[in-house]
Amino acid sequence: MTRRYRFPDGFLWGAATSAYQIEGSPLADGAGPSIWQRFAHTPGMMADGDTGDVACDHYRRYRDDVQLMRALGLKSYRFSVNWSRVLPEGTGRINPKGLDFYARLVDELLEHGITPNITLFHWDLPAALDDRGGWLNRDIAHWFADYAETMFKALDDRVPYWSTLNEPWVVVDGGYLHGTLAPGHRNLYEAPLATHNLMRASGAAIQAYRAHGRNQIGVVFNIEPKYAASDREEDLAATRRAHAYMNQQFADPALLGSYPPELAEVYGDAWPDFPEEDFRLTRQPVDFVGINYYTRAVVRHDATALPLRAAPVRQPQRTHTETGWEVYAQGLVDTLTGFRERYGDLPLYVTENGSAFYDPPVAEGAVLEDPLRVDYLRKHLAAVHQAIEAGVNLKGYYAWSLMDNLEWSLGFAKRFGLYHVDFATQKRTPKRSAMFYASVIESHGEAIDE
Ligand code: BGC
Repeated sequence: MTRRYRFPDGFLWGAATSAYQIEGSPLADGAGPSIWQRFAHTPGMMADGDTGDVACDHYRRYRDDVQLMRALGLKSYRFSVNWSRVLPEGTGRINPKGLDFYARLVDELLEHGITPNITLFHWDLPAALDDRGGWLNRDIAHWFADYAETMFKALDDRVPYWSTLNEPWVVVDGGYLHGTLAPGHRNLYEAPLATHNLMRASGAAIQAYRAHGRNQIGVVFNIEPKYAASDREEDLAATRRAHAYMNQQFADPALLGSYPPELAEVYGDAWPDFPEEDFRLTRQPVDFVGINYYTRAVVRHDATALPLRAAPVRQPQRTHTETGWEVYAQGLVDTLTGFRERYGDLPLYVTENGSAFYDPPVAEGAVLEDPLRVDYLRKHLAAVHQAIEAGVNLKGYYAWSLMDNLEWSLGFAKRFGLYHVDFATQKRTPKRSAMFYASVIESHGEAIDE
């Protein structure tokens, strides 16, 4: 029998989550508040007044959740550490109980043959550090490196994969430019400073890893490829600005040691001249890069859409998810091959990919049918395979997400999970997509078309 889908030996099939979205108990056992704890408790910031106070109650149910991973046959699980559980003030004093939670989770995973993959920062900055300027304070590079070092010393003997940041673009765009995410600022002048300090901090943590770690470290970017709505020069220029702003603003300083020139056009007066020596810190050798892919954008010039002067054009007659994102799997192929062209032949992982669709109520004992999510998954797994065939050095794929969780300021209504979560009872129910993904994993990819 000839196999249609061949994946490299050792290809890591995984699923991903993040701390604030699933853990709950944000202040338990001596943890300090994070900026998300504050933001979620600020009136008007969260859909339906949802918060991460309970979320999936994973902090207390992590053992049961590892059973869900086992049922899927996951080879790896990507999760993040809540910095202020470990260091309640963000720097200095370690909270042993907070650190112990992650050590217990890691042990539980290893006991079940699941490889842990840790992200050090998935948006939940300690509130105490926000009070000192957060990502606007240059000192954050060593605050972050010190925290990272604490984690490496505690867990590098058991954790083979580390990432510094998850999606710095979202932190800057949502947290500092548009104010839709914590810490909720809307300030064009802050955004470039936040970008720069995020990338300095990532570099400083990678340096700390070279001194204290023995496995692999990388960084995770969300990449949304941009396609011009027409070949008019102004649409092409708008597309270049949109691409530089979302995709190159972070990957370039990390991997090339510079910023793309379009950022000066985007930010205008707010774009500073950064000291040349900073780029020696931002550009550190990485062992891999994680790419989160959800959708693409088709872009046209729009003088009123500031600061980009670029606007997305909705594609009629195409499927869109409940978060309004076009389903476009070819974009994942283009992203992976394009990344290789610009940054060289680095080992890559798809560290997130998934979709929110409306899920019907679940009947007791029944599988929840989610055909649109199955279709999304199938198409994107085929795209991953296509990229591998095209020569991309892709080492693994993580579905977003293991289970329904708090979709940040959109609340619990947007469900990305392979498992359905009833947030009133905390009952987990497999969706058809979970069963589909389990069969893909079991067949090492062969079941993508079944
Ligand atoms: C983030 C996740 C988020 C997902 C869906 C990514 O931007 O890393 O935390 O839930 O996309 O929006």
